[in-house]
Amino acid sequence: MRKSAKMRLWLMATLLFLATAGQVANAGDLVLVAGATGRTGQQIVRELNAAGYRVRALVRDPVKARAVLGDTVEYASGDVRQRPTLDVALQGVRYAISAIGATRKDPANKPEFVDFQGVRNLADAAAAAKIAQLVIVSSSGVTHKDHMLNKVFDNVLLWKAQGEAAVRASGVPYTILRPGGLTDKPGGQNGVRLEQGDRGTGFIPRADVARVCVAALKSLPARNRTFELYGAQPPPVTDWDALFGKLAADEPQS
Ligand SMILES: NC(=O)c1ccc[n+]([C@@H]2O[C@H](COP(=O)([O-])OP(=O)(O)OC[C@H]3O[C@@H](n4cnc5c(N)ncnc54)[C@H](OP(=O)(O)O)[C@@H]3O)[C@@H](O)[C@H]2O)c1
Repeated sequence: MRKSAKMRLWLMATLLFLATAGQVANAGDLVLVAGATGRTGQQIVRELNAAGYRVRALVRDPVKARAVLGDTVEYASGDVRQRPTLDVALQGVRYAISAIGATRKDPANKPEFVDFQGVRNLADAAAAAKIAQLVIVSSSGVTHKDHMLNKVFDNVLLWKAQGEAAVRASGVPYTILRPGGLTDKPGGQNGVRLEQGDRGTGFIPRADVARVCVAALKSLPARNRTFELYGAQPPPVTDWDALFGKLAADEPQS
């Protein structure tokens, strides 16, 4: 390739990087939600709709999904185990949130295939589509090899840790949330506690996990951070930049 053509390519890539690097989401933006039919995913859809975003739900079974989500979203048929379906689902999308999780008692949809390979597929597809941010719901405890959940559910936390690593290595701007035990209590009533180092324990309502996912789309200090997430005493958070701003950035991946 001629030197001037190489220079033009380099300039275009740099401009694209600069155009997306400092960008945060705004009402009206289209957000892809993977796991939208799930218990946390439904809360994420609700939160996005309330904040004025357009939502595209990545769903395995559109008929079942429509019964759950109705006309509040547009639908993309897909499965995180099948990369080509993700490339299609990400067309025209700037932001994506994933709250997928493996299915107990379905060997074809076990943690290795969903929480590791599926998350890796999504991150690679998001990087290829050059989206501005991918938010991933992981779990606290992922660095604890002997955690009881690994024994009872196919090493789920170990596979989630590998999924996280794949996100960090993909090159897509990301935010990785590691919530504690999820509850179905109402959200928006209490504070949240963010930690790093995977040493804590606690619980948090799915609705508050959803609030943090959506808040992260609007906050540059949330980018390229991995953190644990627990419920805390009231009041609910209002200054998300200040909260995310206390987090250390992840080590850049080589
Ligand atoms: N339970 C806890 O206390 C806890 C604690 C910390 C973190 N977490 C994690 O938090 C996340 C959300 O949990 P949750 O309880 O809200 O999950 P959930 O209700 O079980 O929902 C899981 C979602 O993942 C989707 N999904 C599964 N396999 C898929 C595939 N191959 N391709 C595309 N989508 C797929 C499901 O879609 P279908 O409707 O098609 O099945 C569903 O929408 C999970 O990753 C979970 O491991 C859970």
